[in-house]
Amino acid sequence: MFQQISLPALPEDLTNRLIDHANASFYDEGIQQLWRTTRAYPFTEDTIKKFNIVERVSYNIETYLDELKEIIQPHLPIEAIWALFVMKNNDLGRKAIFPAHTDRKRGVALSYVLQTGGTHTQVHFHTDAPVIQNTFFNEIESPIVQTFDTHAGAWYALSATDVHSVTGIEDTRILFTLSPVDQTLSFTEFVSMMK
Ligand SMILES: [Fe+2]
Repeated sequence: MFQQISLPALPEDLTNRLIDHANASFYDEGIQQLWRTTRAYPFTEDTIKKFNIVERVSYNIETYLDELKEIIQPHLPIEAIWALFVMKNNDLGRKAIFPAHTDRKRGVALSYVLQTGGTHTQVHFHTDAPVIQNTFFNEIESPIVQTFDTHAGAWYALSATDVHSVTGIEDTRILFTLSPVDQTLSFTEFVSMMK
C-alpha cells in the first residue's frame, strides 16, 4: 500500500541543504550513520553486481530537526524519528535497484523525495511471502503486484510491512523519512489520521 500525502513541500533552500548534507556525508564514517547496506546486505558481491543493487546509508539529521519540525509537526499527529536515506548507484552505466524487503522497526513509513535519483523511479510491491521484519527477499526477481511512480517534492506513505522495492535509480536517490515511534502503527491507521 502506497499513497501520496498532502503535506507542505519543503522550501528549496532547506531541500538543497539536505541534499548537500546527504552527498557530503556519504563516505564519511565519522558522521552518525544509522545503517549502511554494504555491511547489512545478505547478498553476495556477485548478486549485488548482477542486479546493480544500490549502496544505501541512513543518517540522523539533528542539525535540521528544528527547521523540519516547525514545517511538518503541525500536520503530523504522531511522534516520529526523522532520518535521511541515501541510495547510491555505483555503476552509472545502468539503472540500479533497492531490492525487495520489509522495513525494520516500522509498520508505516512517511517519506519526502528530495531527489528521485532518476527520470523514472518507481516503488514496487511484491507478492506476499513469509518474510520476517528487516529481511531482504532472497528472490530478488519476485513477482511485482503493484507499481507507483515517485516524484521529487512529494510526500508518500508506504506500508513498510509489505514487501517493497525501488527501481530506476540512475545516480543518487535521497529521501527524508519519518518512522513512527509507535512501531505497531499501521499504514491504514496512519493514513486515516492524516485526513
Ligand atoms: Fe523500505
